[in-house]
Amino acid sequence: MAMTSRTIRIGDQSFPYSFGEDCLDEIAAEIAGLAADTLVFVTDDHVLELHGRALSRLAGTTPAITLSHRAGESMKTLACLTAHLETALRAGVTRRSVVVAFGGGVPGNLAGLMANLLFRGVRLVHIPTTTIAAMDSVLSLKQAINSPVGKNHIGTYYAPAAVYTDVRLFETLTARELRSGLCEMAKNCLAIHPAALEQLRAVIDSGAPATPAALRWLLDASIAAKSAVTRADTFERGSGLVLEYGHTAGHAIEICDHRARGAAGLSHGAAVAVGMLVAAHISHARGRLTERELRVHYEIVTGLGVEPRLPAAVRIADVLSVIGDDNKKGYLEARSDAVPFVLLDGLGTPARTGALPLVHVSMDEIRAALEALALPAACVRAVGV
Ligand SMILES: NC(=O)c1ccc[n+]([C@@H]2O[C@H](COP(=O)([O-])OP(=O)(O)OC[C@H]3O[C@@H](n4cnc5c(N)ncnc54)[C@H](O)[C@@H]3O)[C@@H](O)[C@H]2O)c1
Repeated sequence: MAMTSRTIRIGDQSFPYSFGEDCLDEIAAEIAGLAADTLVFVTDDHVLELHGRALSRLAGTTPAITLSHRAGESMKTLACLTAHLETALRAGVTRRSVVVAFGGGVPGNLAGLMANLLFRGVRLVHIPTTTIAAMDSVLSLKQAINSPVGKNHIGTYYAPAAVYTDVRLFETLTARELRSGLCEMAKNCLAIHPAALEQLRAVIDSGAPATPAALRWLLDASIAAKSAVTRADTFERGSGLVLEYGHTAGHAIEICDHRARGAAGLSHGAAVAVGMLVAAHISHARGRLTERELRVHYEIVTGLGVEPRLPAAVRIADVLSVIGDDNKKGYLEARSDAVPFVLLDGLGTPARTGALPLVHVSMDEIRAALEALALPAACVRAVGV
């Protein structure tokens, strides 16, 4: 099937994003057209096991090396970056080589940084294999690894030469991984692109959000929503901050849940979904979101299979403590009793301070919203949502 192609514009950078179904041969032809002397595939062991044959097909007849590592955040380290760079250089890569990220957001971020560093910049191609990577991370120029102190502390901005994906690669994702990407997509609809909500609900109601046709639509809608706010905001420090909707509380809930339950904790996307409910409750309490708009949040979140409540293992006091350290501190004038938050004045309309889609929210407001979400599900329904 022919690929759909969109041009992504982020600040003064632009690149093509082509996607389709059963289109590995078309992607391979595009990669061959880059006339690389070596392809440097960056992936993880899990993706390699599942999709190693696809990777070989993509490489075609171009000389290729494959750099793989155990899956997960342990890959986003300086040690792994150094080891991969050394291996690539010893294998003889040159300025004509192309780094190809083949995997989720983790190999994508690592590959992005490698491409930026090798000879001060070689071509980068993203082939995302998770919905998070395809619908979120490759639509950003941010490339980062973690430091021993925290996540995404060491990074840069770097544009790919192109992004390609075949939605068939998503068929091996677990329901948890798939849902995580769909939650980020739902965030974009609620905060940026409410015109897509009706179709999103139809996809959810169909009970089959993972059909190739549904995934192609979701991908296209994500591209439209995310590009709308990053087009004039290369560094995601202005209008792009709306992409943080649900993240202030969501990220804190994710951290606390992982401390309590380890790998059984909420996925990133599911935590963001609960974080959106926190933000929606605060907006509703301020009289900025209607009852119906709050209900739409609940319908979308539950439709995606996320329980609309704070996990029982998570303590409100811990969430508040983590929120106090949120990385959006510094965008607004510092206040000891409040943190910058993305709130909505209506679906698709962020509340603003000046030009920024951020407002101060007091710890008391956040606590009240978390308390509403700590109620058992039946009680949440009984209080009207
Ligand atoms: N640059 C950005 O703006 C941005 C945006 C969002 C996320 N991110 C980063 O992306 C990372 C999260 O992305 P992710 O969730 O894709 O993480 P990931 O790359 O670790 O993938 C998650 C899991 O899915 C597995 N996987 C990948 N493709 C698969 C497939 N097709 N079938 C089955 N399993 C598959 C991986 O092996 C891994 O175990 C984080 O490090 C985050 O910081 C960056």
